[in-house]
Amino acid sequence: MARTKIKEILLSERTDYSVTVKGWVRTFRNNQFIALNDGSCIDNLQIVIDLNTDEHLIKKITSGASISIDGIVVASQGKGQKVEIKATQLEILGLCNGEEYPLQLKNRPSLEYLREIAHLRFRTNTFGAVFRLRHSLAFAIHEFFNKRGFVYIHTPIITGSDAEGAGEMFRVTNLPFDNPPRNEDGSVNFAEDFFGKSTNLTVSGQLEAELAAMAFSEVYTFGPTFRAENSNTTRHLAEFWMIEPEVAFNNLKDNMDLAEDFIKYIIQYALDNNRSDLEFLAQRLIEEEKQKPQNERTEMGLIEKLEFVVTNQFERITYTEAIEILLQSPAYKKKKFDYEVKWGVDMQSEHERYLVEKHFKKPVIVTDYPKDIKSFYMRLNEDGKTVAAMDILAPGIGEIVGGSQREERLENLQQRMQEMHIPAEEMQWYLDTRRFGTVPHAGFGLGFERIVLFVTGMTNIRDVIPFPRTPKNAEF
Ligand code: 4AD
Ligand code: MG
Repeated sequence: MARTKIKEILLSERTDYSVTVKGWVRTFRNNQFIALNDGSCIDNLQIVIDLNTDEHLIKKITSGASISIDGIVVASQGKGQKVEIKATQLEILGLCNGEEYPLQLKNRPSLEYLREIAHLRFRTNTFGAVFRLRHSLAFAIHEFFNKRGFVYIHTPIITGSDAEGAGEMFRVTNLPFDNPPRNEDGSVNFAEDFFGKSTNLTVSGQLEAELAAMAFSEVYTFGPTFRAENSNTTRHLAEFWMIEPEVAFNNLKDNMDLAEDFIKYIIQYALDNNRSDLEFLAQRLIEEEKQKPQNERTEMGLIEKLEFVVTNQFERITYTEAIEILLQSPAYKKKKFDYEVKWGVDMQSEHERYLVEKHFKKPVIVTDYPKDIKSFYMRLNEDGKTVAAMDILAPGIGEIVGGSQREERLENLQQRMQEMHIPAEEMQWYLDTRRFGTVPHAGFGLGFERIVLFVTGMTNIRDVIPFPRTPKNAEF
């Protein structure tokens, strides 16, 4: 018989029909009740087996073992589920050695420990919920842009451009490390390298997306990006995924509207389609919060927080206003910030979090940053000091989006590149967009794992990507 997914059986609540189900044993009680999970949803299906089942077979039904069951769906006598399976046939597909099975622990395994067994952590409730949500968010992202007529552009992962300056890059080469070909001055001769030049893993698909936006008007990228910064924080990965829409004819306000609609859309999608996963994670968060001192606890539950975000306007302030708020804040006056607050200095995460968590208590879009702390491609404002940049800051996380209106005026762009020592010779392909039918345009980048963190309520970014890459760690 064809396999039926557990989610389908539990959702329909229909009874009195035969099914085949397959999955992994979560628990086995009283030699009679199996809790079976196949990953289709967070809930397990209860299988009731005949008490006279062969003793040898019974011994093989251990946590982690994979089994196939034929049976009848019946109304459940027990609490906790509406339907269960009365097994007529049980086959062991794969044994699981209980003594060695890492998830067999009596105490709940820690998230840190589970990271070391990433091949098995998918099987826990927490990570099942997290990765089903990650999938839904990815799907919702494509759906959002598709509905609006955006074209999905695959920008290169290996890039010959290192101009974005978004972070330190990983070099891609097949030259021999011990004895690379050298130029006369002793430097490595990349003309001999695979691509005939020096290449790296991309830090962003934006510059290439801009080229496509100059033809399709509305495009987006969704791909892996790589940054070799040595930031060992709960919000940084060396390999992460980024969504970068780029829209011709948009100004900064349009860009903010798009970003806000986009974030609300994908969160709403998760609320509508992953309710039981979110409920599980909300409960998990409540338990985690209990461990914290009273003053560090968040006031809102996870689902409440997500509903709040989709129904309320994001606050919009300029960088200058943000600095003013920080300078007036009790935290500043009581010298609670570690880093300096003054106009012209980049905000640190403690400042961003003060603004969203203490002051506004909602997502905040900060615009018009000083030009010296932002990228060369951001459009210079009339004041000559600030650029049309925008960062979106989220409670509990800080920056989730960075973007801007782009400098579409050739001379201004060349001037900024010179000031910031960006080699114009290598960037002619980019400057050409400003030579051949330039238009005002804008875009932004959403860090995918940051939004997954926000939606799942997890605290460490390593726990929302299946195989995290961080300094000194590239296991699996
Ligand atoms: O602010 P960033 O550096 O902006 C760009 O790369 C622009 N090219 C985007 C654009 O305008 N098209 O990065 C964008 C977002 C950040 O706001 C953050 O959410 C995420 O990417 N991000 C990271 N996420 C995880 N680990 C890291 N090391 C990250 N660095 C940035
Ligand atoms: Mg940024």
